[in-house]
Amino acid sequence: MFEDTLLQQIRDRFHHVDRCPYQGERIFFENAGGSLTLKSVVETNTHFASIPDNQGRDNPASHELVRVIARARDDMRIFLGVDDGPVFIGESGTELLFRLVRAAVLGSCAGGNIVGSTLEHPATVSASKRWGGIAGKEYRAAVHDNETATVTADDYSKVVDADTRVATIIHTSPVTGMTVDVAAVVSVIRTASPDCIIILDGIQHAAHGGLSVNDYDVDCYAVSAYKVFSRHNYGFAWVSPRVANLPHDHLDGTPDDFWEMGTRDTSAFACTSKVVEYFDWLGSQFCETDDRRSRILAAGVAINQHERDLVTLAINGNDSQPGLRDMPEVFLIGGYDNPAREGLVSIIVEGHPCAEVVAVLNQRGVRTHVRKADYFSGNILTPLNRPTCIRVSMCHYNTSAEVLKFLHELQTIITNEVAA
Ligand SMILES: Cc1ncc(COP(=O)(O)O)c(C=O)c1O
Repeated sequence: MFEDTLLQQIRDRFHHVDRCPYQGERIFFENAGGSLTLKSVVETNTHFASIPDNQGRDNPASHELVRVIARARDDMRIFLGVDDGPVFIGESGTELLFRLVRAAVLGSCAGGNIVGSTLEHPATVSASKRWGGIAGKEYRAAVHDNETATVTADDYSKVVDADTRVATIIHTSPVTGMTVDVAAVVSVIRTASPDCIIILDGIQHAAHGGLSVNDYDVDCYAVSAYKVFSRHNYGFAWVSPRVANLPHDHLDGTPDDFWEMGTRDTSAFACTSKVVEYFDWLGSQFCETDDRRSRILAAGVAINQHERDLVTLAINGNDSQPGLRDMPEVFLIGGYDNPAREGLVSIIVEGHPCAEVVAVLNQRGVRTHVRKADYFSGNILTPLNRPTCIRVSMCHYNTSAEVLKFLHELQTIITNEVAA
């Protein structure tokens, strides 16, 4: 775990760390629903929201907006770990993924198939089915494993073939918390279909840091800003040079690799720079180097370790507090010793309706979330024959005391207070 002084410095950089403006004191374990927001993001956003000028004019304000946007594009590249190909902003993660899938499906050779997986968020699945139907490309899903709650290269190998034109992969599942071995899946896809356009959904993974998109050998990567310490209403994406130039919606007269639609919101770019600055600052606590990318990667390593420790504490407890493993009524999706787990536990408490447990935890100041077998989570819950689960999603600013409080309240609920 981070040592206390650093953890406090981290927490001081975020809004509403331990108090909800509508509820009062609370622990925030709803990070997969939307992370805490950096104070620097809110300040920056307020400033740019007040600027009336537009980009592309010959005046000092306009020049500054253009500079801020250019700087933010560099920051996005360094955060994602990409060299060539454009980075751009869109309305949300879902909107970006739809746009990427549409361009890939319509821009790839006629016929063939699209491959995704049952682990994915509906953003990629819905887009693939819709545009696959329009383009006459069959949609196939690699089936994830119920036990491990993730999807593997082997699962993909059962559905990809030489005619796979487009493939989607989820980097981390927001329902099970499991990461996918992207390198292994990509290798299977590229072996079967070397020119396949591969779209990686990084929306749940990005807050955990350590992104190295160049190394993944994919064509597209999408991030949602509110899941990575920024605000709602925008996301950003990267596309490889070959995908950048595929036909896609953009104004006539703009370059072929231009992906943005209309006037840019400078504050979205500026806020993204603040997020990258934050990763840079955090990494600088762990290494001494002038290389920004190395500091950002160091932040990812540190985040990963802290979150791993939080999850281990949640599962194993300590000398005075039993963990989830020791609560016989608790079923943990994906199992106790799953190396793919990234900062999240989704549980079911036998005999206790999930919505009720979540409500009582909330009353006691622990914010979690009930996931239902609906269009967001049915892909995970229906095969498990479970109508709901309780998602407890942690982030690197959470503390061991918060995890212990969650375990304590859960245990009390199980032992006496919420009727089946
Ligand atoms: C993995 C994943 N993909 C896509 C999305 C959709 O992102 P957005 O809410 O920005 O549309 C989410 C949101 O939870 C997600 O977790």
